Amino acid sequence: NLEDQNSVLNQFISEIRDSKIQKDSMRFRRNIERIGEVLGYEFSKELSYSSKNVETPLGSKSMHLSKDQVVICSILRAGLPLHQGLLNYFDAAENAFISAYRKHENNEDDFEVVVDYFATPSLEGKILVLTDPMLATGRTLENVLMGLKDYGTPKQIHIVSVIGAIAGIDYIKDIFPANTHLWIATIDPELNARGYIMPGIGDAGNLAYG
Ligand code: PRP
Repeated sequence: NLEDQNSVLNQFISEIRDSKIQKDSMRFRRNIERIGEVLGYEFSKELSYSSKNVETPLGSKSMHLSKDQVVICSILRAGLPLHQGLLNYFDAAENAFISAYRKHENNEDDFEVVVDYFATPSLEGKILVLTDPMLATGRTLENVLMGLKDYGTPKQIHIVSVIGAIAGIDYIKDIFPANTHLWIATIDPELNARGYIMPGIGDAGNLAYG
């Protein structure tokens, strides 16, 4: 949870929360992308690094660089701007896309998460970065994790999210493997009866894409 550290990140978060400013969908998408850049920088500190000599025009300098193969995996559709932010920094990453949506049955407050489209490279031994701006009940991430089981075992999993509810965070802590890290910009205390984060930001997918 990076909002406690008082940085420019808080400006981006406040703009996506603010009910007037968030109506500017281009700014909303760009703020989510900027949060992706910040969170990507933060989780890069957890990768493996080794020394490599870089030849400058005037000499040689030893640098610590990571050879970890990163796969950025977005959950459609609200994950897309966050995905772009991560890709801005991890330009050699492979990419995966998964669709997920809440399907409301007869009871409006009851829903199942439908996950049916998977386009992903092998995850074996790689760094899997799951991006979804909202972590509400955690059921979307749970279904995505189950669906990804057939694609190999990642070395590490990083969940990158903009906003989460405590209940959803606790839920995924229980079901994800021990080598999972969660990077989340801001945390709210409650979910309402429909499973929406309170006070939250509203519906990130609609705000970004209508
Ligand atoms: C939203 C959000 C997450 C999910 C989080 O998606 O983007 O994917 O809900 O909720 P959960 O933690 O309770 O599973 P939504 O179903 O609104 O789809 P969209 O991104 O296409 O708008």
